[in-house]
Amino acid sequence: MDTLQAWNCWPLGVADIADVMALERMCFRTRWTREQFLLGLERGAFQILGTRERGALLGYVAYSLIAGEMEILNIATHPFHRRKGLATRLLGAAIDCCQRRGAGEGFLEVRRSNIPAIDLYRKFGFIEVGVRKNYYPDNHEDALLFRLDFLPLTSRADQPT
Ligand SMILES: CC(C)(COP(=O)(O)OP(=O)(O)OC[C@H]1O[C@@H](n2cnc3c(N)ncnc32)[C@H](O)[C@@H]1OP(=O)(O)O)[C@@H](O)C(=O)NCCC(=O)NCCS
Repeated sequence: MDTLQAWNCWPLGVADIADVMALERMCFRTRWTREQFLLGLERGAFQILGTRERGALLGYVAYSLIAGEMEILNIATHPFHRRKGLATRLLGAAIDCCQRRGAGEGFLEVRRSNIPAIDLYRKFGFIEVGVRKNYYPDNHEDALLFRLDFLPLTSRADQPT
């Protein structure tokens, strides 16, 4: 079975930007603009995977893959559909895709106060490797920098069933 099909996650493109922005409005104080999504997708600067139920977008993850390094840029799930494993599937799918394209490690930044996201990343084995003081312009909150060294695909226990 195709990797993404197994995770029930699919690549999103320009036609999906309105849905992603609607989800962002429910999930984030500061958001990307349509132009940022458009430019990023058109130039291949990042990829977005999404998961839908009966057509409705319930979650997405945006990531980049540059020189063997994956960076998680954003991940969010619909507030009414949390704690159901959606983010786990999205993050698992993004890591899978990057590993199959040769990535060996992943990075991300997260607000120090964002316990749900930090717990999610720790569950995947991400470890804290640094702090960017006063990183976020809206409230000067610190960003924690996390890193994951990918296990060989054959020994990963978090594959979809
Ligand atoms: C963070 C977020 C993506 C998690 O999505 P989700 O679909 O609820 O995540 P999952 O159901 O896959 O949960 C996986 C794990 O994450 C952790 N987690 C998720 N929500 C949590 C919460 N409210 N409190 C503590 N840990 C939480 C848990 O370890 C959970 O595993 P468990 O349910 O077995 O305990 C979601 O809360 C969200 O969209 N938040 C707003 C956007 C955001 O802050 N994104 C991160 C930007 S860095």
